[in-house]
Amino acid sequence: MKKRISVSDLRPGMFLDGLDATWYKSPFVKTRFEITGNDQIKKIKDADIAFVFIDTDRGLDVLSTEETLISKTTALDNDVSQSPPGPVKESEPAAPKPAPRPQPTLEEYIKKKESLFQIDRSSIISGSFVDFTLYGKSHMNIDSLVEYKGKDIQVNETAFVNYCELMIKPEDIPRYKAYIKDAAKAVGGSQETKHMLVKENARMCIKELFDNPHSDENVQQSKEVTEGIINAILESKGLITNLLTINKKDFYTYSHSVNLSVLSVATAVSSGVTSDSELFAIGMGCLLHDIGKTTIPPEIMAKPVGKLTRFEMDIFKEHVAEGYNILKLYKGISEATSHPLLEHHEKISGTGYPNGLSGAKMHTSGKIAALVDLYDILTTSRPGYKGMSAFEALSHLRSLSVDYDPDVLKEFIKILGKTTL
Ligand SMILES: [Fe+2]
Ligand SMILES: [Fe+2]
Repeated sequence: MKKRISVSDLRPGMFLDGLDATWYKSPFVKTRFEITGNDQIKKIKDADIAFVFIDTDRGLDVLSTEETLISKTTALDNDVSQSPPGPVKESEPAAPKPAPRPQPTLEEYIKKKESLFQIDRSSIISGSFVDFTLYGKSHMNIDSLVEYKGKDIQVNETAFVNYCELMIKPEDIPRYKAYIKDAAKAVGGSQETKHMLVKENARMCIKELFDNPHSDENVQQSKEVTEGIINAILESKGLITNLLTINKKDFYTYSHSVNLSVLSVATAVSSGVTSDSELFAIGMGCLLHDIGKTTIPPEIMAKPVGKLTRFEMDIFKEHVAEGYNILKLYKGISEATSHPLLEHHEKISGTGYPNGLSGAKMHTSGKIAALVDLYDILTTSRPGYKGMSAFEALSHLRSLSVDYDPDVLKEFIKILGKTTL
């Protein structure tokens, strides 16, 4: 399990799974390895990095409070052993250890996890009231933390401390969206929280659109989401960390679509695009770029692309044309919105699909979408694939300069340089 921890909690034996810092701050070429000595921890501290990610499946976990107390007590005991002996206290009988909790079977765990929808942990504000049930995931256990029974419940952060992921039932998404809207009004000044709420709302709206791509209401919501993303990027001058889904243990088409939209608009702004209509076309086109996947058979979508047969791959590639067919049905959408959708699998070398367009024939928004799409896919972990670090993905993209526009890459690197990944 991937965990974000303070550098002060790092210890040898842990498996480092990335740094929570701009990639250029990294004191290492690779940011995924087992911590074998305190010298590596010192290098991270010296680089002024406060938080890192660890993978507890591949190395040690953070000491629990109990373990910390024990280790502190042991340290104290050791200290005491150096000092003159005092009066001997009668030792108290040790409290019985709680029985280990039975683990669910893998099947039970997958079934439960797939029946729920993951939300951003920081979107639930301590002290606020919710009108939906909240679930928490810790390792393979999924527990109901706050059970809604028709009466709003006040949430307390302490109930979540031991859970790395929060989830809700899919039928509670409309209530959660309403909660986010109210929270956005209530939090006022904090840009970080506002951005996180813009992103959460965007993710929910994209899920609803993918569930029902022909609903006028869902299309209208996507337009509002695009405007929200553009405003947030312009206001923050490219600081977009909280608009992205960075903890990407789970691969969701919805998060991918929002990330693509955020990163593409930010890259376009950095490249000098100022026209509202152009930014809207890029943002909306990227949000909808994979909408055609809703028409592809689920058994093909469930397979990793590398495992598809030639025939299945041909069907998969149809998601671009199918997406364009859906987009054409939407009212009030300019032709420019279709460029990111139609060109996100093209390559400037002319070897992409569906049309094998060369760089000269591709639109700038298509070139941006193609590069950002690959970046987000490379950095996203999914079953059977461990996502690359931002640094590794950028090195990989640099090596593909025949396929992806180097000028776009330059602007994209500027954006990531401002972003904590
Ligand atoms: Fe795609
Ligand atoms: Fe995509």
